[in-house]
Amino acid sequence: MSVPHEVVFFTGATGLVGGDVLRRMLAADPALRAVVLVRDAGRWEQVSTRLALPAGRVGAVVGDVTRPGLGLSADTRVPLAREITAVVHAAADVVFSRPLAVARAVNVAGVRHLLDVAAGWPRLRRFAHVSTAFVAGRRVGRILEGEERGDAGWVNAYEQSKHEAEWLVRASGRDWVIFRPSTIVCDSAAGGVTQYNAVHLGLRLLHDSLAPMLPAAATSAIDVVPRDYVAAAIAVLALRQDLAGRTLQLCAGSGALPVDELLDVTWRAWSRRPEWRRRGIPRPVLTDIATYHRFELAVEETGDSKLRQAVRALSYFAPQLALPKAFDTRAADAALGGPAPAVRTYWARMLEHLVSVGWCEAVKGVAA
Ligand SMILES: NC(=O)c1ccc[n+]([C@@H]2O[C@H](COP(=O)([O-])OP(=O)(O)OC[C@H]3O[C@@H](n4cnc5c(N)ncnc54)[C@H](OP(=O)(O)O)[C@@H]3O)[C@@H](O)[C@H]2O)c1
Repeated sequence: MSVPHEVVFFTGATGLVGGDVLRRMLAADPALRAVVLVRDAGRWEQVSTRLALPAGRVGAVVGDVTRPGLGLSADTRVPLAREITAVVHAAADVVFSRPLAVARAVNVAGVRHLLDVAAGWPRLRRFAHVSTAFVAGRRVGRILEGEERGDAGWVNAYEQSKHEAEWLVRASGRDWVIFRPSTIVCDSAAGGVTQYNAVHLGLRLLHDSLAPMLPAAATSAIDVVPRDYVAAAIAVLALRQDLAGRTLQLCAGSGALPVDELLDVTWRAWSRRPEWRRRGIPRPVLTDIATYHRFELAVEETGDSKLRQAVRALSYFAPQLALPKAFDTRAADAALGGPAPAVRTYWARMLEHLVSVGWCEAVKGVAA
């Protein structure tokens, strides 16, 4: 008996990860079709043109994961129920500084609404959920792929809401696979950055001498990954039957860079430009979290407004640096036939790219 053609329901296809996953899945399987859930049809038009998606294989429905039934009309739901064979759920609110209720509305209720709608899809045989490695929250040490504990708490509402979402997926009774990327920073080949996040914001603060202190041990590893690695991994693995019920950490793992080395590489790269070198900006002092909290308080009370703003922005993610983790990636590596690119192979290229596009200005409006 032949396997019926896949019709994949995508959320988050206008985002950094989802669009690239969709493009790759369509390219890999000429029989695959997709339906994307988008909030804004006009924005989807632009994104699908930029992605150069093959004509006639992707339909779009307008909806919103925060709404019961995804906000879809009954007319829209009927054909979906007839066709959809798999879900790739990549929609999320990825801003770390959101209040918990706001993060939950997208990241937790969004999953619940999607699972509720998918309950009416008889052909559905896979629910692929994009989570984050930082569901591990405040836990330290080796973070195993199968682990799902949330007993140590979280650094921000994003982490907590993504943890809660994983539980909904696990409890759904569906055939699921969960992907946990660490922080996506650039494309590996040219170091190009298509979307700024907390890492680029943090780098800007370091570059402009607005982060004089960090709560980290020199040997703590910073785990980041390239976008192309994450998208290719999800595209290849999302529908693989042997991965049912597995959680795969798409992380640098042993290829993560210790803070000390990362600062070395970064200062060396920036120092090549005489105008930056002349400013004599010192590397940040690395300290324990209690000292860092005292520094935050002092800045809040007496610091100038630029430094206050910078330290507030860092507060949503810098504490992760004081919670050293080593993400286990054995299941992901085995499924993919190898590990993620080591951070030291592309970090300097990304820094060059950032400087060449003047990211310090561009990143100013980015919310942590
Ligand atoms: N980027 C990272 O570093 C990173 C790291 C680890 C895990 N992840 C995970 O990877 C997934 C994708 O993240 P990303 O970086 O691609 O995020 P992104 O670029 O911010 O894209 C978010 C996507 O979610 C959609 N979305 C947001 N709210 C929605 C709503 N209420 N209803 C429907 N769609 C909504 C957005 O659509 P609009 O165009 O309408 O805004 C967009 O397509 C997320 O699950 C995230 O947690 C990301």
